Amino acid sequence: MAQLVVVSNRVAVPDKAASQRAGGLEVAVNAAFKDRSGIWFGWSGKITAHTRITTQKAHDNITYITLDLSREDHKEYYNGFANRVLWPILHYRVDLAEFSQRDLSGYLRVNNHFADELHKVLGPDDIVWVHDYHLMPLAKALRERGHANHIGFFLHIPCPPPEMLTALPHHDLLVPSLCDYDLVGFQTGDDAFNFSRYLARECGLHNRDFNFMVDGRTMRVGVFPVGIETEAFARLARDSERMPLVRKVLVSLAGRALIIGVDRLDYSKGMLHRLAAFEAFLKTHSQWRGKVTYLQIAPKSRAEIPEYADIAAGIGAAAGRINGAYGEAEWTPIRYVNRAYSRATLAGLYRAARVGLVTPLRDGMNLVAKEYVAAQDPDDPGVLILSQFAGAAHECQEALLVNPYDPDSVAAAIGQALAMPLAERRARHKAMFDVLARHDIQAWADRFLADLQREPELLGRVGRL
Ligand code: ADP
Ligand code: F6P
Repeated sequence: MAQLVVVSNRVAVPDKAASQRAGGLEVAVNAAFKDRSGIWFGWSGKITAHTRITTQKAHDNITYITLDLSREDHKEYYNGFANRVLWPILHYRVDLAEFSQRDLSGYLRVNNHFADELHKVLGPDDIVWVHDYHLMPLAKALRERGHANHIGFFLHIPCPPPEMLTALPHHDLLVPSLCDYDLVGFQTGDDAFNFSRYLARECGLHNRDFNFMVDGRTMRVGVFPVGIETEAFARLARDSERMPLVRKVLVSLAGRALIIGVDRLDYSKGMLHRLAAFEAFLKTHSQWRGKVTYLQIAPKSRAEIPEYADIAAGIGAAAGRINGAYGEAEWTPIRYVNRAYSRATLAGLYRAARVGLVTPLRDGMNLVAKEYVAAQDPDDPGVLILSQFAGAAHECQEALLVNPYDPDSVAAAIGQALAMPLAERRARHKAMFDVLARHDIQAWADRFLADLQREPELLGRVGRL
């Protein structure tokens, strides 16, 4: 029988820590498995000395198959090529990319190793869904091992224009290998368009309605903005208001307005620029001094990578400096914490916040923005301030959309949000909530998988889920 085989670098094997891990992909993949059964395949999260032990664990409808990575593989594939080359370039930060031939070899080696292990478990009818930039050449590796399955790919992060993609050393090896997928999905129309332009410019491939003929077969490109479990998250937020930790935070605010930021500690999230904007706000809106608290929750991420260590140090220093300059004995403007919280706690904190400050310099989607909207009390909602460079801006048009590089305009938006009349807050919130309820995570997974199996010339050759 046809089963779903999801492949991603991170796998959310159910355990105690799972509800406190930061990262959008895991929640999305879990939704794909609602009402479906199959395999979730990827890295165990463990680094071992030499061997790569494969672990299998079945839970409900999912069999989790995970591999440990050797130190060398982790260094070259994950810390190296995936996160010091692909991540910065795909986030328009060519200046931060640190390429080495060795890391590229490690990346290809791990992709081949994934393909070897998948080869052992993949049935001819299985539908394969590969996620994210860690695994771009995986379909090619699977095809080389004889697999003609429907294989789809979804990129959770942005795809820059070809002028920037071509700065990726050996892009001509990697980017065209995406054509071995049957369907390549992106977060926004801009990302899909950028990829199509790359294929036209670098590979001479032209498309009709995002359908490309590649070596006699059709490869399709699609736009699938990833969503959240909107209704369930709204319920969670309602119930979490009474959680002891959320109550404690509210009591500690002593009536001050709460501004919240929740981000993995990543330079793409624009936290340094955001702190500068908050400082500009304190400077220009002196009437709010002592009456507002900005809580920035930023769990550490990819901490072994120098650019991440640098941004962590920079943010800590900036928060300390602003608190020193503007704080009083009885008031600290910025509360900065590096830990992860349960989804329930986050939901309760979002709901307690009058302003959600989400200002990435570039982001594939940004689920925090959507979670903030879903968590609000519709009768008295807070205001979302959202970067125009987050994928979520396409669906959250009623947010206060800002340019994160312009601290003065973000400061003005904070002032506007805090002063916004109730009727306007309600209208903006309702418009966004309705969109997010229609395009929730279930709709996203269903639409991608339906599209992946729709290819006319292949229908009948493989089973349907
Ligand atoms: P990314 O995938 O780049 O990390 P997203 O905003 O799309 O960014 O997704 C982040 C996910 O991680 C969200 O679901 C968010 O709730 C979760 N998250 C972020 N920070 C924390 C935290 N401190 N504790 C728990 N979960 C977090
Ligand atoms: O959204 C991009 C992404 O890389 C996801 O794949 C992942 O859930 C998240 O960021 C966290 O990153 P990492 O797996 O490197 O901790």
